Amino acid sequence: MTGKDRILVALDVDDLDQVGSLIEELAGDVGGFKIGMQLGTSVGVPQACQFVHSRGGSVFLDQKFKDIGNTVKAAARAAARLGVLMFDVHADGGLKMMRAAVEGRNEALVEKELTKGSMAIAITVLTSMDSSALKEIGYYDGMPVSEQVVRLTALAANSGLDGVVASAQEAVEIRKTVCDSGFVIITPAIRPEWATWAPAGDQARPTTHVEAVQAGADYIVVGRPLLRAPNRKEAAVRMAEEMDAALARA
Ligand code: C5P
Repeated sequence: MTGKDRILVALDVDDLDQVGSLIEELAGDVGGFKIGMQLGTSVGVPQACQFVHSRGGSVFLDQKFKDIGNTVKAAARAAARLGVLMFDVHADGGLKMMRAAVEGRNEALVEKELTKGSMAIAITVLTSMDSSALKEIGYYDGMPVSEQVVRLTALAANSGLDGVVASAQEAVEIRKTVCDSGFVIITPAIRPEWATWAPAGDQARPTTHVEAVQAGADYIVVGRPLLRAPNRKEAAVRMAEEMDAALARA
């Protein structure tokens, strides 16, 4: 996979006109597009997916499902019916819920007569959270965030999920925990040191794109460092080249 293929652009905008401009500017220089709750709630998830697909883009459907198993199963089936590259569920919804997501996804694959598709990905600990934020909600038991991420990753892998969303700071440990080399790591909270227009802001565990791939991330999710760049195309190309150079040195 080249550096370009690893970039998933977070379509954190409110309407399809802006999505159209972003795809036009970036499609040739990135691997895909992420439809999160902002765009999904503004224009509708199926509409947004269809819009991106019809322009040749791949979709990471980031709706972070977490509910009772039966509901998540149905949502996962619907996501896979839309033909997305990947979708996500919260790992802290538990083993049964994650297994239900895999079942729902698999039902859609059977309908489509496919053996593979729509990777089911687990959100571990949000990259906006640190140990004090976990303490506030009673999720902190003295275990460092990185260990909590690894614990949730093991649970996700056990449930048959295809990968996790985690900070690059945890990617090395994840690779040691899950032996399957096909297990995917997706890393948000990317802040290139030169992207002065996008400070860490709400992200508590940021890393650069280069650190992310060096740590073992397969994909990086990039929002503000690209969306707010004075020249988005140049910024995407620079990120891809720098990741390629780092991986060639490794
Ligand atoms: O603008 P920025 O690059 O920080 O955007 C990161 C994107 O990745 C946002 O769309 C956010 O919802 C998403 N995300 C995240 N942390 C996760 C999962 C997804 O920041 N754990």
